[in-house]
Amino acid sequence: MKIIVWVACLLSSAAAYPLVQSRQTEDHAWRAPTATDRRAPCPMLNTLANHGYLPRDGSDISMDVLVAGLKAGVNLGADATKLVGAAALKGSTTGNASTFHLTDLNKHGLIEHDGSLSRADTSSSDNHSFNATIWAQTASHFTESTIGLGTAAKARKDRLTAAKAENPTFNMTDGDVQASLIETALYLNVMSNETGVTAVTAWVQKLFQQERLPIEEGWKRPKGEISVATILGLKVLMSSRQVRTSNI
Ligand code: HEM
Repeated sequence: MKIIVWVACLLSSAAAYPLVQSRQTEDHAWRAPTATDRRAPCPMLNTLANHGYLPRDGSDISMDVLVAGLKAGVNLGADATKLVGAAALKGSTTGNASTFHLTDLNKHGLIEHDGSLSRADTSSSDNHSFNATIWAQTASHFTESTIGLGTAAKARKDRLTAAKAENPTFNMTDGDVQASLIETALYLNVMSNETGVTAVTAWVQKLFQQERLPIEEGWKRPKGEISVATILGLKVLMSSRQVRTSNI
């Protein structure tokens, strides 16, 4: 009798295993947002919501949920997530001061700024949705199969110069410029195929254009945790390539 029970247990756990595996895959399958799902001006937060690493509805996100989602999705360390996300709760409209909706990040001047790589300035009617025309300006720099630090810094600087020339109310503080360099450092690092500094162009395109992790194209979650030190190090290297407010 004992043997029959043991065999039955073994068979049922073997049958359950692929189910658990496929559920895990399914949980993080890419799905486009529905009309009521909330999304941010950040291509990575939107990507992580589209994969279920952040709530798919983009609503009521606490700092703990944000940290856990970035860690599970792209191996960003808590320190780095908090560096970028510290101001997120300041724009909270959830009715709970310790959570925010992704749309709360559209509020200009908290993290959102003018001169984005793929979004229009705040003086336009939409400062948060992917804008193909603006992205084309940025992506025109990405003519090789990889994007190095110099190319990314040039794309960043040229986009700031163009936004300033096009928008009479353009306004970026030096802090905004530094934040925009951190955003560039983040995409370079996450999409760098373990090199840390050179991103794969096709992967970056998927991140911005489809808000999807480019798993089908070969991207893998970085093995090592991405820290503040790494990101700030990349930012300093780009600053030394003349991306400063005084130069735009
Ligand atoms: C690995 C993690 C992350 C990556 C790769 C990433 C990437 C980016 C990039 C590339 C941009 C610039 C978009 C553009 O200029 O068109 C951006 C913007 C933004 N990110 Fe993220 N991000 C990450 C984490 C975060 C976190 C943790 C937050 C905070 C909750 C955040 C909030 C924002 C916001 C509000 C913007 C809009 C800034 C603007 O006006 O352009 N991001 N992000």
